[in-house]
Amino acid sequence: MTNKTDNIYASQTNKLAFSFDDQVAEVFPDMIQRSVPGYAEILKNTAKFAEKFVSDNSHCYDLGCSLGASSLAMSTGISAANVKIIGVDNSQAMLDRCRHHIENFKHSTQIELHSGDILKFPIENASMVVLNFTLQFIAPQERKALLQKIYQGMLPGGLLLLSEKVCFADERDNSLMSDLHHQYKRENGYSELEISQKRSLLENVLVPDTLEHHISRLSELGFSRSSCWFQQYNFVSIFAVK
Ligand SMILES: C[S@@+](CC[C@H](N)C(=O)[O-])C[C@H]1O[C@@H](n2cnc3c(N)ncnc32)[C@H](O)[C@@H]1O
Repeated sequence: MTNKTDNIYASQTNKLAFSFDDQVAEVFPDMIQRSVPGYAEILKNTAKFAEKFVSDNSHCYDLGCSLGASSLAMSTGISAANVKIIGVDNSQAMLDRCRHHIENFKHSTQIELHSGDILKFPIENASMVVLNFTLQFIAPQERKALLQKIYQGMLPGGLLLLSEKVCFADERDNSLMSDLHHQYKRENGYSELEISQKRSLLENVLVPDTLEHHISRLSELGFSRSSCWFQQYNFVSIFAVK
């Protein structure tokens, strides 16, 4: 896959909100790598979690799969037999590129891609489900029902890997973590204009929850245990076991 540089917001944009359109899909690997602290680390560990949790004759789901990075990471770690990885996304621009990417990348586990809304997509026989920076784009009032559906479709002992941008109860922590995140973006070559335009466009599109809210919701839904295993600034990854 070519790694085109993200300069979408380098000049004044007339877009009203962020969306996963063709322009974003084209530069997505560069955009996510330079914008999300820990993204590469989380993918590397997705393979390790898959190695431990994916069981024979089961399904793995990559919900909001974008270009398939988490599907490919899972496939790297899976040693179980007769496993199918199912990637779902509702952006056709992402899925078209994802298909091409997956065809060109060596992987031993079958990967099936579906165009669709993860809120409606059936989940069954799942030993691992990945929501890698996707839940934050789902309307807050829909999140619990989505997680409940995922829980119901999981096998006992199965793993949910949930990575998210989070907010903090204390406004001072929000602004500290946000400053450090913006510094991270500056260090990765984004200008003040790019940072501020992206921030405005994501408002009301990416709506973060607190880490505490994530953990308590997972527990209310019945997950036997859950914990944050990775955090850098306002970006976290949580594992939850059914
Ligand atoms: C930040 S990206 C996810 C990155 C990806 N999981 C990875 O590991 O590289 C969020 C993705 O979720 C998709 N998405 C958002 N809402 C969705 C929905 N309701 N149904 C399906 N996909 C959705 C977007 O199209 C986008 O590709």
